[in-house]
Amino acid sequence: MEKIAIYPGSFDPVTNGHIDIITRGLKIFDRIIVTILENPSKTLLFSLRERVDLLSESLKGIDNVEIASYDGLLVDFAKQRNAAAILRGMRAVSDFEYEFQMALMNRKLEREIQTVFLMTGLRWIFTSSSIIKEAAKFGGDIESMVPEVVKNRLEEKFNVRINHRPS
Ligand code: PNS
Repeated sequence: MEKIAIYPGSFDPVTNGHIDIITRGLKIFDRIIVTILENPSKTLLFSLRERVDLLSESLKGIDNVEIASYDGLLVDFAKQRNAAAILRGMRAVSDFEYEFQMALMNRKLEREIQTVFLMTGLRWIFTSSSIIKEAAKFGGDIESMVPEVVKNRLEEKFNVRINHRPS
């Protein structure tokens, strides 16, 4: 039977760190369903439609990936789709408490679905959608951290030019 994982998140917007987790997750799972869900504690920059479009553009050419969105509990969607696991990336220790709480709550809600963590690649350890948006707003060089289509959309949103600065 096909081993399916749900890779859930806000993806506001998708970053190279997310793509790294997806491509590495595909070495473990047969199919990954990248799923946009609501995180009530986040204020969003991009609409659902925009986030779906940015994900589809960014994941072009990667097989066995599907993009979905769901308005409800992650575990309900995972069950609907017969997923064996929820895939999450873990960066620094600062991610741990939140991820631990979420994994335990999801396990309490649905015992049959396992949460699997992949450590973010060192290159992406400081990459987060929030910090990227903050830097991009003021024209900071985030070019190496996001797919080109995301960089372009950030420039349009904030009406800035993001110039590459060699580090
Ligand atoms: O990228 P994020 O914002 O860290 O992702 C968090 C997300 C969207 C995965 C999480 O908030 C979520 O699962 N939302 C759906 C509602 C739910 O099932 N919450 C977890 C149990 S309380």
